[in-house]
Amino acid sequence: MTSTMADSVSTTPVNQRPRVLSGIQPTADSFQIGNYLGAIRRWVELQETHDAFYCVVDQHAITVDYDPQILRHRTLLSFAQLIAAGLDPHRATIFVQSHVPEHSQLSWVLQCLTGFGEAGRMTQFKDKSAKEGAERSTVGLFTYPILQAADILIYQANGVPVGEDQRQHLELTRDLAQRFNSRFGETFVVPEALIVADTAKILDLADPTAKMSKSSPSGCLFLLEDERVLTKKIKTAVTDSGRDIVFDREAKPGVSNLLSLIAAFTERTPEQVATDLQGRGYGDLKAAAIDAVLSFTSPFAAAVADLMADPAELTRLMDLGARRAREAAAPTLAAVYDRVGFVGLPD
Ligand code: TYM
Repeated sequence: MTSTMADSVSTTPVNQRPRVLSGIQPTADSFQIGNYLGAIRRWVELQETHDAFYCVVDQHAITVDYDPQILRHRTLLSFAQLIAAGLDPHRATIFVQSHVPEHSQLSWVLQCLTGFGEAGRMTQFKDKSAKEGAERSTVGLFTYPILQAADILIYQANGVPVGEDQRQHLELTRDLAQRFNSRFGETFVVPEALIVADTAKILDLADPTAKMSKSSPSGCLFLLEDERVLTKKIKTAVTDSGRDIVFDREAKPGVSNLLSLIAAFTERTPEQVATDLQGRGYGDLKAAAIDAVLSFTSPFAAAVADLMADPAELTRLMDLGARRAREAAAPTLAAVYDRVGFVGLPD
């Protein structure tokens, strides 16, 4: 029986569309613009052409200090934001990670294939543990990228749409898939990172040498933030010396970041936006950025508020996603358990 289950794992999803999976942490009261432009916007496009799986990774969110009540609220809010951003629960499988126990079950097996030194080389772990201090850092923070690998591999995903900062975790995922396949036989699809070059890294408005991140709130635009706060953050964004509006990431990182933002929301290239603003000053550049950002965030915030007003419907949608996700994850876990030598039981 077990060998039939193992054979049933197909590297091509049943409906023949290539499969994608991605995830986002519910670690803030709102997604930020980097999450949206670097990842979620692409997820919305991919649901048309791919068999798409997207999850709110609440288990990753407990690897650092957190409050249970706040986590619960942020998980609901994250789910609502994914739908408000344009994901359709009937076209894509949208779910919460902890509703699908197969992720952590596979994660354990993958942990037993990962070298201690290999996990220690992950830069996100090094950065976060340096901030927390070695004694306060959890083992969960250390094994975080292995759970991420399990999130992806359990669905046999062909592609993983993420921002540039996730590249190293994707490399680990690919290494683990290849290692498992060569040790135990072909089991996993080796996934590709899908990174959109133009918006792969949205930079911090107050420090355009760093990526935009919630850990530096003054330079970070949160999608659900008050319009006055968003306006103020853009008005005080760091620009570069000189007066010319040109797209040059090296020489003019601040101006180029604003041009990328405007371009992303107005379906133009940053170079086109620069040409359209020829002869104008930095004040006009910022006014255009404010218009571009608010034209997206205002209707977005209204849609999130509507969804949050109906928690029963949100729960129903989460349940739908969890059922579909578990159905897709189960055959992979069965094959893995069989191949690593766990004794199976009759159904
Ligand atoms: P997270 O929650 O930090 O971010 C979610 C997505 O947003 C992208 N992103 C950015 N893109 C461009 N510019 C920025 N400034 C920026 N900030 C964030 C991230 O690259 C990411 O795609 N480890 C993941 C969550 C995760 C996951 C997964 C992702 C868990 N399991 C499986 C893919 C597949 C993370 O912390 O993302």
